[in-house]
Order: sequence, then structure tokens, then C-alpha cells
Amino acid sequence: MDDKNASLWGGRFEQAPDVGLQDFGASLPVDWRLWRQDIAGSRAHAHMLAACGIISSEDAEKIDRGLDLIANQIEAGEFSFDLADEDIHMSIERALTGLIGDAGRRLHTARSRNDQVATDTRLYFKQQTGALAALLLELRGTLLALAEQHSDVMLPGYTHLQKAQPVLLAHHLLAYYWMFTRDFKRMLAARDAADASPLGAAALAGTGHPIDRQQTAASLGFSAVICNSLDAVSDRDFLLDAIYACSVAMVHLSRLCEELILWSTDEFRFITLSDRFATGSSIMPQKKNPDYAELVRGKTGRVVGDLVGLLTTLKGLPLAYNKDLQEDKEAAFDAADTLAASLAVVTGMLASMQVNAEAMLAGAQGGFMAATDLADYLAEKGVPFREAHEIVGKLVLQLEKEGRSLKDLTPVELREASPAFEGLPDDALQIESVVARRLSEGGTAQVRVREQLALAAEALERDSRLSS
Ligand code: ARG
Repeated sequence: MDDKNASLWGGRFEQAPDVGLQDFGASLPVDWRLWRQDIAGSRAHAHMLAACGIISSEDAEKIDRGLDLIANQIEAGEFSFDLADEDIHMSIERALTGLIGDAGRRLHTARSRNDQVATDTRLYFKQQTGALAALLLELRGTLLALAEQHSDVMLPGYTHLQKAQPVLLAHHLLAYYWMFTRDFKRMLAARDAADASPLGAAALAGTGHPIDRQQTAASLGFSAVICNSLDAVSDRDFLLDAIYACSVAMVHLSRLCEELILWSTDEFRFITLSDRFATGSSIMPQKKNPDYAELVRGKTGRVVGDLVGLLTTLKGLPLAYNKDLQEDKEAAFDAADTLAASLAVVTGMLASMQVNAEAMLAGAQGGFMAATDLADYLAEKGVPFREAHEIVGKLVLQLEKEGRSLKDLTPVELREASPAFEGLPDDALQIESVVARRLSEGGTAQVRVREQLALAAEALERDSRLSS
């Protein structure tokens, strides 16, 4: 019987776990990053135990000093982690007991690793979701600055990836800005979901020791105590919320990256990525590849997988703690890490890219993107819109066969198509007029977009205060 096993649950066992199974059962390679939260949780628990007269204040002080030492060792990279410890909670408790003896052995009074791991993970995700919200704010700031800087640039808007109607680049960028604004809100909601203390739920049913859960919750900065001990140790909704928030943000990043990839092709040339955010080919000297944008798009699949994975892990679990729950952290850490890295990449890529306004404008000129405006003109003159749509559709068909575009139409041809075209202003088909006409609330007309820029700036200002 090895010593290590004897010190934690050895009493009940005659044999140590199979060596292979120790590796299989260990979560230490994943959860060691919770060490700060674990130490904070142990400190709060020890103080509370002393305040409630469950351990002596001398023991609590020894625990405090021992934990300080361990924190310093881990920080300095001098702590030796051992897989036989299974997880960060056992690593720290064993090291503490090694340092201070019996006082260390008293720390686990009225506590279980079940409430301990839930506490650590909640503390960690409160902080992570806050950090991700701050990164989302930075991205929003970059998108807003780009929109302001290029507020007059026009480009084709697409539906079905077919040219549809011209829009302002600022309008296009602001569409993403609002997506990331909602992601920011989702991230803060996930932070709120993590903000309740499971500590003191012990293994599953609470404890007979006269503990004070309000005290530990308050000293760890939790806003509330989870009011059902079974729920406290079993609930991982707060991680689902965080991974869901990460997944939606990744999907938004992926859509944006898809456009950056498309826009940087020779066919579009709408933007030029900075060399710092592109790579070359080992065989084709001419290549400049948008690898990083592609990687963000690619990693999105993994984050969505993290969400589906944890949902699936949870779906058949009876109350209360089951070891399956140990699988939660790998998914949640991966989702948060991937989103953090992707946000930094995309923010840098946007801030450093060049906008090719002429190529965008050229893409929006000519063709048939003013067709709706022609039909709208007829509708304003009293032609039923469906009829107007057909008249213009026929004109487009004819022009397309002849290899001409809308602006090549002569006044005679227009009048032949419908007498109601009489009086059509000369500039009606110009892209500037087409954009300027879309004055409806939320439309792409310059005045509306200017209002939208002001709204976006206000929201950014308000949210910066929220996240700090
Ligand atoms: N390493 C475990 C986890 O991450 C900690 C809790 C273990 N509790 C238990 N009773 N085995 O979930």
C-alpha cells in the first residue's frame, strides 16, 4: 500500500489503484491551472472553520502560511506536481500536510472535493468570462473605429452571395459590431451564472459541522450561496452558459473571417491583409494566404464540439456528483482559451488590414444593383409593386442578353417599358443615390448609419463601465 494513497482515502483500501488507472483517472494535467482558486477557496474555508470554532485559530494561521508557501512555489515553477495526486485539490492538500502536518489534515473538515472543485471552477470562470468580455470590447472598439474611418465607402451588399444592393462599409462592419455586442452581454450573463457559492455543500448533503456558508461566499466574492447542496455539487449549467457564449462568439468570428478570406481573394480585392496576419506557400512563391482567418473559422468547429460534448456528458447523470463531471473542465477551458486567442487574432487582423475603397466601389457600380430602385420608382408612381417588379425583370433579362447594364438604358427604352418611368431623375441609378434612399430605420443611408455609429459609441462606452 503506497503512502500517497494511505494519506487521503487509504483507510478503506488494501491496494493502490492500478498504475495505468491512476493516469486514466487523473485530471491534474487539465485542472492544475485552478491552483490560485483552490488556494483562495482553502484559505476562505480555513478562516471560516476557525471563526466557527471548528478548528483552532493557530491551525488556521498555519494553513494560511502553508498555502502562501505553496502559492509561491507554484508561481516560481518550483512545485512538483505528481500524477498520483489525481487533481489539483489533492496536490495542494498533500503538499500542505507535508509542510504543516496535522493542521493540514484538518483543512478538509466539512468539505469535499465535490464542493471544492465546483467552487474553484466557478471562481475561475467568473474571471475568464470577465476577461473574454474585455476582449470582446476591444474587438468592438476596433470595428467601430474602422467604420468611422471608412464611413463613406460603399460596397456591394449580397444575398445568396449574389450582388444585391449597395451598402456602406460602415453599415456592414456595424452588423458585426452588434453581433459582438450581444456576445458581450451573453458573456456577462455567463459570469453572473457562475457567481454563486457551492462551498459548504460538502459531498452532497451538507455537513453536521456548524459552518457558515455566507462567510465563505462573501470572502470569495460570490454574490450568493447556492441554496441546495445537491444542486451545488452537480450543477454545471454555468459552464454550459460560458461555452455557449464562447460558441456563438466563435460563430460570429468565423463568419467575419469567411468574409475577410473572400475579400482578400484576387477576385474581390476588397481588402489587403497585413503581411503580419498572412502566410506564404512553401512551393508557390506568389501566394499570400489568410491562414489565421481560416484557423479561426476552423477552430469554431472545436468550440461548438466543446458545447455539444459537455451537454452530452451531463444528459444522463443522476444526482449528485459523478466522476463524469471531471470531463467538464477540458471542454470549458478549451472553449475559453480558443475564443481568447481568436479574438486577439481577429482584432489585430482588422486593425492592420488595408481597405481598398476603389475596388469596393467598382464592385458596386454597373450591373443591376439599382433594379429594386427602378421598381420602387414605378411603385411610387402608382404601378402595383408586383407589376413593377415584372417590368424591371424583363428589362434586366433583355439587357443581360445584350451584355449591357441598367445605366445603359436610354430614356426611350425606359418609356417603352413603362410610361410611368417619365420623370425618372438622371441620378436615380447612381450608387450614391441608391444608398442615400435607404432611409428607413436601421437602413444603410448615410444619415441612418451616422445615427447608428453614435448608438454604437454609446453602447461601447456603457459596456466599458459594465465590464470593469
Ligand atoms: N478531479 C475531480 C473533478 O474534477 C474532483 C472531484 C472529485 N470528487 C470525487 N469524489 N472523486 O471533478
